[in-house]
Amino acid sequence: MFDEPLAEAWKLRYGTEPPDLPDLGKFMHHRSVRRFKPDPIPEEMLQALVAAAQSAATSSNLQLWSVISIQEPDRRDQIAKLCADQRQVKSCAVFFAFLADHYRLKKAAEKQGELAEGLGHTEFFTMAVIDASLAGERMACAAESLGLGICYIGALRNDAQGVKELLNLPEGTFGIFGLCIGWPEEPLRAHIKPRLAQSEIWFREKYDRDVDTSEFDERMSQFYEGEQMKGDLLWSRRSGQRVDLNHMTGRETLLEWLQGQGFLER
Ligand SMILES: Cc1cc2nc3c(=O)[nH]c(=O)nc-3n(C[C@H](O)[C@H](O)[C@H](O)COP(=O)(O)O)c2cc1C
Repeated sequence: MFDEPLAEAWKLRYGTEPPDLPDLGKFMHHRSVRRFKPDPIPEEMLQALVAAAQSAATSSNLQLWSVISIQEPDRRDQIAKLCADQRQVKSCAVFFAFLADHYRLKKAAEKQGELAEGLGHTEFFTMAVIDASLAGERMACAAESLGLGICYIGALRNDAQGVKELLNLPEGTFGIFGLCIGWPEEPLRAHIKPRLAQSEIWFREKYDRDVDTSEFDERMSQFYEGEQMKGDLLWSRRSGQRVDLNHMTGRETLLEWLQGQGFLER
């Protein structure tokens, strides 16, 4: 899987000839996979994936994250419904729900007579989201290195209360994204997707406020055309629409819900 030569992967990302690259393994080959074979992932492989996730760096070793794997077909149907009924949530071999998690540390600290009152600050919400994201991405990279395909699922946040009820989440926890993992369907239909030129996201010494995404718009339009994508093919307009007020998909009330869970009090 993901067997393009590295130079080819660079061209697909940036539309330019690559510099003299060091061996990056499969780090440039990621693409989201949404069609999977029905084959299961062996238990030892799942343990290895969780070990990879736990090997990510974590702020002050607080480990403010947890993960719940969902494999029972019934429960998979239920979580898929909460995630806009996306096919890959049902068809992947394992679905992991990644949580920002203050609950465990609060309980452990309280046993030692510590009140852990700082956890209500925005800082510790940010920390938990960073920790969970680093763990998720390390699991994703490990999975891809084993020949598995992955797809993140932000739609886990569409109905935070529904997810809380289904997964029996206590206060101080929040399902921030899902991660579908499985054996990619063959032949592989997922392609390496272009990214902005490095000069648009990598500034040297200080921020460059000149934004020019026209070159990327052009490359993305060609990519979308190749994928027979419907709707607007201009990335900057399409992405602008994605962040307008009509596309919040239930997430517009997240702040209040998070505060009810004990996050973001100040
Ligand atoms: C946090 C996060 C949430 C995402 N949520 C979804 C989702 O709900 N459904 C989906 O099909 N793809 C989802 N994606 C995948 C993105 O659409 C995808 O990464 C992006 O279009 C770039 O494509 P690539 O991953 O193939 O390079 C998500 C990605 C991230 C990082």
